[in-house]
Amino acid sequence: MVDINMEEKAELRTLDALGDWRRTHTCCQLTAADIDTEVCLMGWVQFRRDHGGLIFIDLRDREGLTQVVFSPDENVSAHERAHVLRVEYVIAIKGVVRSRPEGMLNPSMKTGEIEVEVSDWKLLNTSSTPPFTVEDRVEASEALRLKHRYLDLRRPKLAANFILRNRVAQSVRRYLDGLNFLEIETPVLTKSTPEGARDFLVPSRLNQGEFYALPQSPQLFKQMLMVSGMERYYQICKCFRDEDLRADRQPEFTQIDIEMSFVDEEQVMGMAEGMVRTLFRETLGKELPDPFPRITFDDAMRDYGLDKPDIRFDLKLVEITDIMRGSDFKVFAKAEMVKGMRVPGGGVLSRKEIDDLTEFVSIYGAKGLAWIKIKEDDWQSPIVKFFSQAERDGIRDRMGLVPGDIVFFQAGAPEMVNAALGNLRIKMGERFELIDESSFAPVWITDFPLFEYDPEEKRHVARHHPFTQVAEGHADIMMSAPDNAKARAYDIVLNGYEIGGGSIRNHNIEMQRKMFSALGISDEEAESKFGFLLSALEFGAPPHGGIAFGLDRLIMILCGAKSIRDVIAFPKTQKATCLMTEAPGEVSSRQLRELGIKLREKPKKDD
Ligand code: AMO
Ligand code: AMP
Repeated sequence: MVDINMEEKAELRTLDALGDWRRTHTCCQLTAADIDTEVCLMGWVQFRRDHGGLIFIDLRDREGLTQVVFSPDENVSAHERAHVLRVEYVIAIKGVVRSRPEGMLNPSMKTGEIEVEVSDWKLLNTSSTPPFTVEDRVEASEALRLKHRYLDLRRPKLAANFILRNRVAQSVRRYLDGLNFLEIETPVLTKSTPEGARDFLVPSRLNQGEFYALPQSPQLFKQMLMVSGMERYYQICKCFRDEDLRADRQPEFTQIDIEMSFVDEEQVMGMAEGMVRTLFRETLGKELPDPFPRITFDDAMRDYGLDKPDIRFDLKLVEITDIMRGSDFKVFAKAEMVKGMRVPGGGVLSRKEIDDLTEFVSIYGAKGLAWIKIKEDDWQSPIVKFFSQAERDGIRDRMGLVPGDIVFFQAGAPEMVNAALGNLRIKMGERFELIDESSFAPVWITDFPLFEYDPEEKRHVARHHPFTQVAEGHADIMMSAPDNAKARAYDIVLNGYEIGGGSIRNHNIEMQRKMFSALGISDEEAESKFGFLLSALEFGAPPHGGIAFGLDRLIMILCGAKSIRDVIAFPKTQKATCLMTEAPGEVSSRQLRELGIKLREKPKKDD
């Protein structure tokens, strides 16, 4: 459409008042059943077409589109005035619902059987020409769309994500309310609680030199609420983590945070499963398995290489370390672990594709990617010449190799081998279309290790968080064999994404002190950081545990979106900036003075 000219602009300076006009329907509602009804619709001009005297507008609101027709036969002046309409103008129309003429029906549109013949209309507002057209098929860059996010959100596909998000939140609230949970808010200006990421800090004006931290999660507050006797708490709340961002991570995100008293793992997991099953049924009409399958952490690492396996497809990793001991292929013979993954039909992969995959696994520290293509009469591979017949037979039998397969191998430290092959597995699932994109496969991961080794800090840290209870019978090895100690922790994984995690906590102060000491946290440090927790644990803390779901990730999966940015109204970029408001931004020197803050030289932009 052409841009509006100056003359027309002058004419438009006075916008119509809403007056006593009231909207009767949304733009998604009218069907053949409404024919001959008088209606009033309000929304944005999606599209205008002039056709032999008739003007057609696709009118859009949050819910959908309706075709409206301005005809000179119906109302001459309404038709005449409609020539000024441009995309994104805001209008109200009154008219009568008619069936569309023969051959003009649009079955792909919910309102495709009807149109509204306009008897009168009002111009509620004009719009500048938008920097991109508001339609589902987007061509504009994400940066431009994020800068004008209010326009981006008018796209029906994005709007639908927020409609679904609301339905999920309501379903969760109904479910938890039905189980006697109390929704309780906890502070946002608080003290740092360690969940493994960096804190966002807020300087205190009244206590200069001191800082609040924004919560990484309400973990300690929900435990305090259990000590308070609230018994069942939940909150749909913002959490803040200053960490490197990815498609499934934002610096501020939303959790469905839950805690229960007088429970063990089974009750927390049963409650959480029921919530996920209910919300899938209520929002998508999908039935999920009952109960959800469970895989121990060790088995998940053994079979899938990752602790968040996508179990919608069946490729599995197979260990062959024992077969390769003493092999002439030294890379394998000496490796701490050798694993292979058979990809049925993978023999069609080209050399270029294999080179790209080798590059891909290097992200996970792999120094190479060995492979064998199984042919009818022989094995094709750069490494097979080093293998003895016994080694070949051993690999073939254990992995069930048949012609047409490719097998990939990784040798080295178990963490690297699992990460490289586990992520390669996902790539292969996509490459060979092994994943049914319309299916949902939840799975619990249980029996997590209590600790993990942090090479940067050169010490063990809590794998979940330091308030998690050690598994029954493992308290004695927390110090002597920390790598073998298991936790009473569980994660819930959906389609390869960790959508939630939780644990049973230490309600016994001695157990909590023991955990701090196993983590190398001195009594003084424990007192200064967690004094309030230790103190509360002295006053009759009930046994308790809980879980937190990543709401954004959950919605992303429900919507079939590729990024959580598509389900967050005003998300941040990879560099944690908001392109619309331009946050973060500089503040005045007066604000800094009031906070007692003096900046060091501002780093150059590209530092
Ligand atoms: P955890 O750290 O596992 O547990 O977080 C729970 C869930 O929150 C989601 N999540 C995120 N989503 C988007 N962006 C992020 N940066 C991000 N980080 C985490 C994930 C994750 O499974 N207090 C504990 C819970 C408990 O023990 O009850 C906690 O926060 O889906
Ligand atoms: P090289 O003998 O280093 O040329 O390696 C022979 C083949 O083994 C090449 O295809 C490498 O990509 C692969 N390779 C090398 N190191 C490893 C490793 N640690 N794990 C798996 N494959 C490897």
